[in-house]
Amino acid sequence: MLLRHKNIILGISGGIAAYKTPDLVRRLRDEGAEVRVVMTQGASSFVTPLSLEAVSGYSVTSEILDRQTESAMSHIDLARWADVCLIAPATAQIIAKIAHGFADDLLTTLLLATKAPVVICPAMNMHMYQHPAVQHNVAQLQARGCTLVGPAEGVQACGDVGPGRMVEPLDIIQALSQQFEPLILQGKNVLITAGPTQEALDPVRYVSNHSSGKMGFALAEHAARLGATVYLVTGRVHLPTPSGVKRIDVVSAQDMLSAVMDYVDQADLFIGCAAVADYRAADVQPEKIKKSASTLHLELVKNPDIIQTVAALPRKPFTVGFAAETTQCETYAKDKLVSKKLDMIALNNVSQPEQVFGHDDNALDVFWHDGSQSLPRTSKSALALQLLRLISQRCLQ
Ligand code: C5P
Repeated sequence: MLLRHKNIILGISGGIAAYKTPDLVRRLRDEGAEVRVVMTQGASSFVTPLSLEAVSGYSVTSEILDRQTESAMSHIDLARWADVCLIAPATAQIIAKIAHGFADDLLTTLLLATKAPVVICPAMNMHMYQHPAVQHNVAQLQARGCTLVGPAEGVQACGDVGPGRMVEPLDIIQALSQQFEPLILQGKNVLITAGPTQEALDPVRYVSNHSSGKMGFALAEHAARLGATVYLVTGRVHLPTPSGVKRIDVVSAQDMLSAVMDYVDQADLFIGCAAVADYRAADVQPEKIKKSASTLHLELVKNPDIIQTVAALPRKPFTVGFAAETTQCETYAKDKLVSKKLDMIALNNVSQPEQVFGHDDNALDVFWHDGSQSLPRTSKSALALQLLRLISQRCLQ
């Protein structure tokens, strides 16, 4: 019940998903939250202010120059009242307006005036969402510290299938609750590796793997939210840097090792989430390898094991590894826990890789030397938070 007695401003903009907001308000109130609704003009074409007044218990407006609303609570007082501002659904229009600091109605104005965290749930046609202009605005909001929840993938009102649906009310509530998590990692330095490494063969080709970096980035985002100073050493991925995280971009396993060694001295916790390539070319060819014979033999040499190097340091941080396995998953994961001298390992069953790589959800089995816990399938974001809570309980108190 992290939302109990919390003051939530729910900003509703004009998308079809607005019809779900009375249910969202009711559920937020069930969690013990106070909810005041602010609508854009367009929103009232999809859901009536009267319905939202009935479920929230407060009057609803969209106007900045509304005398009745201003006399009840001015827009500045409303901005101060909020513990969190939630925009759901957030259309391309409201995202653009917030990103660029517009203040032409009550919602945009109070978003400029508030110091409360802002959580945004985009909902629009998938092609609109993928448009570079929208992506640019979204990235700008994230860089400014706004939390983006969704969009979810699936069938859209227009018939397209893809990312653009507003996430369901229960997931929104989970994301809002995360804003009020106790700062269990305050004062801790956390070093995380993420993404794939790329091992060059010649100037144009490389050996790599399917890792998207999503899990490592989710861990970095939550560790920062939980109060840690976070260093994220990442291979090449297409992900925005989580707010408050120091990101160090690398390409190969050797680069990753040297970046990790630069930061590991101060680390209290090291999480090796990167999918480090086990081998690299013995000799990187200076010129492009020409296609001639029907077969090509590559000589590969073993890469350094980054996590093992960290775990062997005299002043070793609490060290958490990942194991991606397709068979005898538990046995291999436990073997790695012991052989790499880790403190904890999170097993990722990749026997169905299409359900893991690049996806937004996953499940983990976590093992330590005298215990284990299964974290059932959920979003990588929720999973990251659960894993950090588990780590904190095991080691960092
Ligand atoms: O041996 P395997 O690659 O399965 O081990 C996985 C764990 O070891 C992950 O935590 C991964 O980040 C880490 N690892 C590493 N350096 C390597 C290979 C794996 O840090 N060269």
